[in-house]
Amino acid sequence: MDSSIRYGSVLAPVSEQGGAGDPFVVCRDLFKIYKRADLEVVALRGLDLSVDAGELIAIVGASGSGKSTLLNILAGLDRPSAGQVSVGRRDLLNISEQGLVQYRRQDVGFVWQATARNLLPYLSVADNLELPMALAGRAAGYRRAWAGEVLEALGIGRLAGRMPHQLSGGEQQRAAIGVALANQPPLLLADEPTGELDTANAVMVFDMLRGLNRDFGVTVIIVTHYPGVAQFVDRVVHIRDGRISSETISTASYQRDGSRTEDEFLVVDEAGRLQLPQEYADSFRQRGLARLDWEDGRITLRPPANDSRGDDSRGGQRTPE
Ligand SMILES: Nc1ncnc2c1ncn2[C@@H]1O[C@H](COP(=O)(O)OP(=O)(O)OP(=O)(O)O)[C@@H](O)[C@H]1O
Ligand SMILES: [Mg+2]
Repeated sequence: MDSSIRYGSVLAPVSEQGGAGDPFVVCRDLFKIYKRADLEVVALRGLDLSVDAGELIAIVGASGSGKSTLLNILAGLDRPSAGQVSVGRRDLLNISEQGLVQYRRQDVGFVWQATARNLLPYLSVADNLELPMALAGRAAGYRRAWAGEVLEALGIGRLAGRMPHQLSGGEQQRAAIGVALANQPPLLLADEPTGELDTANAVMVFDMLRGLNRDFGVTVIIVTHYPGVAQFVDRVVHIRDGRISSETISTASYQRDGSRTEDEFLVVDEAGRLQLPQEYADSFRQRGLARLDWEDGRITLRPPANDSRGDDSRGGQRTPE
């Protein structure tokens, strides 16, 4: 193994990362509308998200809420319909086709849920890792050394010569992470990477992603349905109907026994919009109006009393226009 090769030393486009203090991934009022014949599906509706360089976050949400749509846009596999989206200094809305190809090749790694989709079945594990490096024009000696180093870091160095079908599902996903990191991208995206794995293997993959994030400084965004994901990531972002509704942030500090506490926050976007949790939203559904009171730094929201003018029983105050 050539210890002179270090993640980020050759291709990682550090210059592509945003200025100091700026978030690395930024989505502002992002829309994605799929059009098929005369049918339109609004998959993302004004989504706001910021991710700092070196952060590890999970995106969770119901089926059809827009998670894969968001990840595919960040991966440069699909284009947004409107809004802003940037990774480092790259603007993914106005990027050229050529720029997008370059972005996919150098700046972002992707892991799919389906293990079979991540690896070419007729290449050994090592050759699967070397292929993206060859496409990026890396010399053979470099490719071998870096493939070996990545596989060691993933704990599957001994499997380098095996074919994908000779690996377990968990080993295949670890090799897939290796392929995604082959060109040392600063951003790693994974869409339900543990969806086909049992709990033990899922934990191993999450541990691995955490370790790679820590050791290589790679920014990681994972879409997942795994219930215990909060303990492996810095932040869990909840997506509902194509928008970020809340975030769960876990903190390990101040807990004597080393356990973590998790706090869930509603997201208020730049325009002041927020999404109420479903169970509360239901009580406003009938009228579509809310009464807002501000007292001692607290906001109270309640449905107006059930009369014809949208007024409630508290002295006939009118909601400010
Ligand atoms: N290529 C497409 N053409 C038309 N509609 C699409 C397309 N891809 C996704 N959609 C629709 O966009 C919405 C969001 O889909 P998306 O795949 O992003 O959901 P998801 O959150 O990843 O769901 P899941 O958890 O099931 O993977 C859904 O209504 C889906 O049917
Ligand atoms: Mg999906």
